[in-house]
Amino acid sequence: MAANPVPDHVPPEMVRDFSLFTSPGMAPTPNGDPHAAVACVHAGPPIFYSPCNTRDGRGTWVITRATDQRRVLQDAESFSSHRSIFASALGEKWPMIPLELDPPAHGVFRSLLNPLLSPKRVTELEPAIRERAIMLIKRIAASGTSCDVMKDFAFPFAVNIFLRFLGLPDHRLDTFVGWAKDLLHGDDVRRPAAARTIVAFIDELAAMRCKEPVDDFMTFIVQTQVEGRQLTDEEVRGIGVLIFVAGLDTVAAAIGFDLAYLARNLKDQELLRSEPDRIALAAEELLRAYPTVQITRVATKDIDFEGAPIRKGDYVSCATMIANRDPAEFESPNTVDLAREGNRHAAFGYGPHRCLGSHLARREIVIGLEEWLARIPAFRIKKGTAPINYGGHVFGIENLILDWS
Ligand code: HEM
Repeated sequence: MAANPVPDHVPPEMVRDFSLFTSPGMAPTPNGDPHAAVACVHAGPPIFYSPCNTRDGRGTWVITRATDQRRVLQDAESFSSHRSIFASALGEKWPMIPLELDPPAHGVFRSLLNPLLSPKRVTELEPAIRERAIMLIKRIAASGTSCDVMKDFAFPFAVNIFLRFLGLPDHRLDTFVGWAKDLLHGDDVRRPAAARTIVAFIDELAAMRCKEPVDDFMTFIVQTQVEGRQLTDEEVRGIGVLIFVAGLDTVAAAIGFDLAYLARNLKDQELLRSEPDRIALAAEELLRAYPTVQITRVATKDIDFEGAPIRKGDYVSCATMIANRDPAEFESPNTVDLAREGNRHAAFGYGPHRCLGSHLARREIVIGLEEWLARIPAFRIKKGTAPINYGGHVFGIENLILDWS
């Protein structure tokens, strides 16, 4: 990726060529380790400017200390979430809700949505999540001694939970997996086409639920009120689209990184298989070591931050993978310790936008690992194959072929 111009206000000594997209290990690489590649930033300054750390024509400031990231993410008045990432791919301008709203509007929608993804609601969904995990894994076990975990398990599992959550039947699973893949990993033609299809689908579903209400998420959204009024079509769309994009790649990638780690570390794999009570704590450590989201904010005013002259409109990156490997925050941050206690990791972000789906995500990951380890014997990366890891806005993994022959 070519570097973007460095704005005049950025002092040359604050520019680094480190990027979560293009630094070694960040571009799709067989057996690459984009999480380990971030370790070099902690030895440097608390903030630097990278001209190639973005996709849309501008570089970003990169915050390298977990404690400073928390300051940025807590301060929505100075660092805004107001962007239209999804809509701009379609040449439109509407926010994904609540992700791309700032207070006070953010709080209004967040309070509306909180109960729908509360621990209680997730507990109700749990039997369906487990049933789906078992079904997919049994199918894999019955069909041989090897599989592509991302294609055969992680993606269909995450998409299926999304369908259940929206109250939709399973038979459209493959269609949705296709849309999600095109949206997240398609080229310049497939990505906007998938975005358009998803918007049309959400609009259509909302119209259907308006006409014929049932007991599901979308019916609640079209019937509910905020500040004494019903939601506009654009607000309904902004919520539906966010629920679609927020929980697919993230959960699938987390399961992929976890199983890749266990495939390479047979002792830990055996420990969790023989003592499944350890899985929930282990999953937290794997979320710490292999988080997936690079959070970005836009400065709303000129700010001097740790000596950096951030100007209104500048992008500021708070990468969870940088926070989670900060040695000031975690002892031996590059070592995976499945029994790590007091694990205050940043995988789900921080501040008002902290992940709304974290309870659901955690249950999906833990149940996925529990059922996988209960049904698949000792597994490794298949000889002659290499999983492809990559950095970016959302870190991911492809071609994870496991073998238990
Ligand atoms: C391992 C899986 C997941 C990870 C690592 C993750 C991570 C994150 C992070 C870091 C944020 C904060 C973004 C920001 O501050 O700009 C976020 C926000 C959000 N996530 Fe997740 N997420 C995951 C799964 C899910 C799931 C399953 C759902 C829902 C179905 C979900 C729904 C949301 C929503 C709605 C927001 C916006 C919250 C707000 O703006 O108030 N996430 N997520």
